[in-house]
Amino acid sequence: MAETIFNSVPKHNYSEQEPTINPEEFRKVIHSRRSVRLFNGTPIPEEIMNECLDLALLAPNSSNLQPWEFYWVKSPDKKSELVKACLSQPAASTAAELIVCVARSKTWKQNANIMLDVFAKSNAKIPSSVIDYYKKIVPLAYTQGYFSILGTLKRLILSVRGLKTPTPRNPVSNSDMILWATKSCALATENLMLALRAFSFDSCPMEGFDANRIEKILDLPPDAHIVMVIGAGKRSPNGIYGPRIRFERNLFIKEV
Ligand SMILES: Cc1cc2nc3c(=O)[nH]c(=O)nc-3n(C[C@H](O)[C@H](O)[C@H](O)COP(=O)(O)O)c2cc1C
Repeated sequence: MAETIFNSVPKHNYSEQEPTINPEEFRKVIHSRRSVRLFNGTPIPEEIMNECLDLALLAPNSSNLQPWEFYWVKSPDKKSELVKACLSQPAASTAAELIVCVARSKTWKQNANIMLDVFAKSNAKIPSSVIDYYKKIVPLAYTQGYFSILGTLKRLILSVRGLKTPTPRNPVSNSDMILWATKSCALATENLMLALRAFSFDSCPMEGFDANRIEKILDLPPDAHIVMVIGAGKRSPNGIYGPRIRFERNLFIKEV
């Protein structure tokens, strides 16, 4: 089998110290994160908001191409327009802060170049397979062409190759690229909500919004796809509408 970045470990001598984690604190963050629909007006200190956004950016993401953007809407005019675009949900109108989480399906090219720049400036020796990954595999994997024409060609080639060899089948269309970017953006959005909770603040993820209106308010580029709007603040005593409901775990956890 030919050696690729997927089946061989690149030569490196990097290691990181693993910190001790208190699982009880982590459980508390997960358990106490609830969708809060009414906030009590307490502001979120700017430095906490900034740290939560920085923690969001540490989420795992596809090829480390970071296909996301977080619009922290501060302008009072834009904020009130955004509340309306969020259908005037109380989770938006009472939020101390509103963050629009956006997946970008076409920033991969510029971000791959940033990555190559980071490698070029690094003192460490970057394995050639890693550089090749960003120079060759990334463009091959993520270029779909006008009307996904290249993607369709790739779909054909990959399905023939896949008859004999394990082969990644996606992304092979512009809509696959939206899904591709959305996965990473959603992970970062969850980081943001958990980070807010860790700092004793709350959030509500929203997809009940008018995407066209938000695109206009924020003047978003054509490849921007709004994944969620996050309302953030401190919960009101009546801000959680009821106890958490989750179905039987065996509906979802499959041991195979
Ligand atoms: C993608 C997504 C979209 C959501 N949209 C809304 C929304 O528009 N308004 C709202 O009040 N809650 C919204 N929610 C919150 C869910 O209703 C909530 O997560 C679910 O009921 C589980 O409750 P919990 O978050 O308290 O565990 C959304 C959640 C997700 C993940």
